[in-house]
Amino acid sequence: MGYILAIDQGTSSSRAIIFDEDLYQVASAQKPFKQIYPKPGWVEHDPNEIVLSVMSCVEKAIQDAKISFKDIEAIGITNQRETIVAWDAETGKALYNAIVWQCRRTADRAKELERQYRNFIHSKTGLLPDPYFSATKMEWMLRNVPEVRKAAKKGTLRFGTIDSWLIWNLTPDRQHVTDHSNASRTMLYNLNELKWDEELLEFFGIEKEFLPKVVDSSKLLIRSVYGPVISGIAGDQQASLFGQTAFNVGDVKCTYGTGSFILMNTGDKPRFSREGLLTTVGWKINDEIVYAIEGSIFTTGALINWLKDGLQIISTPEETELLATSVEDNGGVYFSGALAGLGAPYWDSKARGLIIGLTRGATRAHIVRAVLEYIAFRTKEILEIMERDTGIKVNRLLVDGGVTRNNFLMELQSKVLGVTVDRPIVKETTALGAAMLAGLAVGLWDKETLAGIRKSEVVFTPTRKELEDEYKKWKEAIKRSMNWAE
Ligand code: G3P
Repeated sequence: MGYILAIDQGTSSSRAIIFDEDLYQVASAQKPFKQIYPKPGWVEHDPNEIVLSVMSCVEKAIQDAKISFKDIEAIGITNQRETIVAWDAETGKALYNAIVWQCRRTADRAKELERQYRNFIHSKTGLLPDPYFSATKMEWMLRNVPEVRKAAKKGTLRFGTIDSWLIWNLTPDRQHVTDHSNASRTMLYNLNELKWDEELLEFFGIEKEFLPKVVDSSKLLIRSVYGPVISGIAGDQQASLFGQTAFNVGDVKCTYGTGSFILMNTGDKPRFSREGLLTTVGWKINDEIVYAIEGSIFTTGALINWLKDGLQIISTPEETELLATSVEDNGGVYFSGALAGLGAPYWDSKARGLIIGLTRGATRAHIVRAVLEYIAFRTKEILEIMERDTGIKVNRLLVDGGVTRNNFLMELQSKVLGVTVDRPIVKETTALGAAMLAGLAVGLWDKETLAGIRKSEVVFTPTRKELEDEYKKWKEAIKRSMNWAE
């Protein structure tokens, strides 16, 4: 029996999961790492700690599975997207901390781009000017970090999203590659031509030599330092779309992690949103290119952590379910979770969190319920836009991610949408997607077989659409939380 190793390098932790040939999970290991907040709104990771955390998870998972690297047929890598690392090709050393997708340091530059270049950027990349994406982060490093400038002059500068950084470190001959799904999040990649865009490179002052070669999401690469080949690469949200077997046009998934990311498979032509959603590459495998339309919500699962560690009004995430069901409704309390600005469809990096509607009768249970409603309403608003943008009616939402364990939230989600919410047995859909892509490249299975592997655990079916008035009121709260920060 052969095994697949999936590495899932996420925003708050790294994971390694071993799957067998039937895609059953055999072992897994997880390691959180330091979140660095040098200034309000700035977020960084230590690139070396990221590599070490991945390596220690890989070793632990192999040990726990009681196998050796010789038993691994292929490795799949999936990763937090947009986060960017700069390193020197000669020394292999990172030149600065990784600037994380959540980091708002380039907010002013993004505003400037928004005013003058919105269409230019959107038509080429499917993205909208926001500090979220990698290009302004690379530009910032080139302007502000002397080591990065020096390496650029010497011609030894290398930029890469986390997949590239990991592959560089995990291949003996230092491969500098990324896949199309990750490249499509940088704001330097042309969605129509499927390659780095010369005009954008010039615009942001980034030379092509600094960037990785773009390869297929399922492709045989050189052997890794562990022995097995790395043969699957995808950004984590695209990997979970694949892991959910959302192979047909109109299939939609929502992963509720640090943030929530809703992606719809739109087939082999990019569909450009008129209302603030993103267009992105789902995956590219040989001649098959799949695009997706995406709604990104920056803070959802992180709100549960904030209730626990920041506000300290719950002691475990499970308590949110108990508290939310202990009251009949939100008691008039509404919440905007714009703790890191608002992503789609607002793209307002100056929006901030807000609780409104408090009365003397409001309790922590109402606040918790309002937070869960925020997560469900944000998803609803994105799905409504997705339907308008694509003309495709959504009948079923495939869900995954830690927060989906909350049954109250899943039921609420299905009620506010008025459609079925389908939670699979395998919750590690992101790692599963990476494993599926890796196994595909080494011939362990084909796409037709994969299409039949998904099993539902619970299907939440609403009797009717509910909370329409609350949804309208909540939209008012969102408006009030916008453009608040200096
Ligand atoms: O675009 C950001 C996204 O890829 C982060 O995902 O799961 O690491 O929070 P996650």
